[in-house]
This record gives sequence, structure tokens and C-alpha cells, in this order.
Amino acid sequence: MYISNVFLLILIFASSAGVQAQLSVKKESFLPGKVWYDVDGDTINAHGGGFYYQDGIYYWYGEHKSRNSLAEVGVRVYSSKDLLNWKNEGVALAVSTDASSEITSGSVIERPKVIYNKKTRKYVLWFHLELKDRGYEAARTGVAVSDSPVGPFEYVKSYRPNAGVWPQNFSEHQKTKENATELRYEWWTGEWGKALEDGLYVRRDFEEGQMSRDMTVFVDDDNKAYHIHSSEENQTLHISLLTDDYLDFTDTWVRVQPGGQNEAPAVFKSGDYYYMVTSGLTGWDPNAARSFRAKSMLGPWESLGNPAKGKDADVTFNSQSTFILPVEGRKDTFIFMADRWNPKNHKDGRYVWLPLAIKNNSPEIKWIDEWNLNERRYVRQTESEK
Ligand code: GAL
Repeated sequence: MYISNVFLLILIFASSAGVQAQLSVKKESFLPGKVWYDVDGDTINAHGGGFYYQDGIYYWYGEHKSRNSLAEVGVRVYSSKDLLNWKNEGVALAVSTDASSEITSGSVIERPKVIYNKKTRKYVLWFHLELKDRGYEAARTGVAVSDSPVGPFEYVKSYRPNAGVWPQNFSEHQKTKENATELRYEWWTGEWGKALEDGLYVRRDFEEGQMSRDMTVFVDDDNKAYHIHSSEENQTLHISLLTDDYLDFTDTWVRVQPGGQNEAPAVFKSGDYYYMVTSGLTGWDPNAARSFRAKSMLGPWESLGNPAKGKDADVTFNSQSTFILPVEGRKDTFIFMADRWNPKNHKDGRYVWLPLAIKNNSPEIKWIDEWNLNERRYVRQTESEK
């Protein structure tokens, strides 16, 4: 009896020491697709992430996921000095307990992205919002604001943007065309494809505002901010200039790749070009990424094909883009950040972070099992990379 009790005590001691050891282990490298623990040893829960850097600290905003994908908690925020070891800073934007709120528990809050407005000194959080019990049909963008990067963010409003405003790259003919027959075309037919390219849904949604699902925001060097979103039943991207305070849309917007079926947009700038990486439309399932470049955020955007190279490039290494981070203080060092969704258990969705290189003015992403940023030395390369 005595011996077994001592044994038990040793076991408890050993296992708690083991846990302690695991908790205090400092992460030295990125392990794409592996479970990622924060500095307290809890799994990082920040999907569809957005990143913001200030004063030596990176902030990671993401969707708190439970088993299902509905917003039960809100937008989480983590902080880190090295991009590897993340501290949980709590909930940046909490869902509301008020059933009449647009961000009530059970709504859908996706792809949160934060930008800082130097004039107003406010942190502005944009996100994709779907109203409770309406699936994905509301297709709105939402905005919240805070005085601190870790929140709490105060919800401002949500809507379908650009109501009553035509895109800059729309012809007079497109503005005045009749929709009556075209709206009856069967989806996915050739005539439907042509009609949508020619602006069928822009005209349909002109009064109410344009649909806005997968989105991101981007602040340019001149402090102008843009909202980039999947619109027109996810068939076409829209890029819109935000107001000076970043809290609203101006009347300046363009359609990008009409009928191109892009979502999950991630935008960055390098040298003379703006680049964008997107995915196709297969919901939570991965597909081949696409890439584009432009000399101006408002286009024209030129298609560059799949930036992923090597094995599993056709499914973007089983992931979908969410953000491309320029690493502070390192010239032309970008991290491609993506989600490996798990619709059977959303909180177990994984993060896939990979180095993104610019080759001949095109983005290139290759799989790597384990890597870090130090001297751009990769810790362990896959067979095909050696
Ligand atoms: C994906 C999208 C996700 C989420 C999902 C819902 O295509 O990128 O953010 O909206 O669809 O099915």
C-alpha cells in the first residue's frame, strides 16, 4: 500500500513536472499544420487571422472557434515579439449577449483584420459578418473600433457596402442594362457566366449595397486604406477605398477579375507592385491558390497563376490564405499565413505559415516542414527542397 502510494506521488510529480517543462519550452521554429500552443500551453484559437505590428509587438487577431463555426466568443487577440511565442491577450471583440445585436452569439464573425489610423489614433477592426440564423445570405462587412490594439473593440455597424454607387470600371452600357431576363438564367451556364461578368449582380444589388463575404483590409504607404472583399455571390472581388478615418467606404471602388471566383484575399506590397493571393470557392475544402499583381490597389490586376509550388500545390498544402505578413526589419521577407480548416471540429483547425518569396515579380510559396526567420536559415527541409 505504502509503496504504491509513493509510486503514485512520484507519478503525479513527474507528470506535472513534464507539463511544466512543456509549458516553458520556448518555440524556436514554425511547424506548419501542427498544433500551436500559446505561452500558457493552451492551443491558439485565432482562425482566419489578421496581423498588426506596432512597437516591436505583433498582434494576431482571429476567429475563436468552438466545435462548430458560429461565433460564440468573438475575435481573439494574441501578442508576440518573435512571431513564434504568443501570449493570449483575451477577447478583442466579444459577441453580444443581446439577442437583437447584429453580433449576437451564434452570428458568424470571420476573417478579422485590424488597421491603425494615425489621424484618429484608433484601431479599426473589419470583419465578415453573417447574421444569426441566416446562414451566409446576409453577406455584410462589419467594423469595430478601439483605443488599444488588444481591445476591447466597440462594435460600430455592419452593412453591404457601396450602395447606390457604381464601380469605377463599369461602362455606361453596364449601368443601364436590363436584368430581367438575365436574373432567370440558370447558375453555372455559359449565358449566366457572361451576364455576371457583365455586372448582373452589381446592378441587382445597386440599391441595397454589394455583397461582402471573405475580406481583408490593406493600408498603403500613403495611409490610404482599402477594403478587399468577395462579392457578387463570391464570383467577383471588389476593392474599395475607405474614408480617411477607415470607418466607412468612400464612393471609390472597382471590380477585380469579374467572374474569377476568388475568395480569402491577402494583399501585400513589394517594390513597385501590389500583390494579392486568393483561393477558389470550395468552402472549407482547400483548392489551388491564385496570385495577382498591380501597380495600383485599384488595378488593373494581372493574373499570375498559382503561387504554390511542389507537392500539394494544387490544394495550397491543404490550406486557404488569410494574410501575408511583411516581417518587420527584414527586407522582402514575407510570411504566407493560411488556415487548414477542420469543419468536423473547427477549433482544431490548424495554421499553415510558410515563407513567401518574390521571384520575377511573382509570389512563390513552397512547403517546408519546419523553419524560422533567423538568418533565413531553414531548420529542416523536405526531401524535394534539398
Ligand atoms: C470559405 C471561407 C471561410 C468561410 C467558409 C464557409 O470559403 O473562406 O472564411 O466563410 O467558406 O463555408
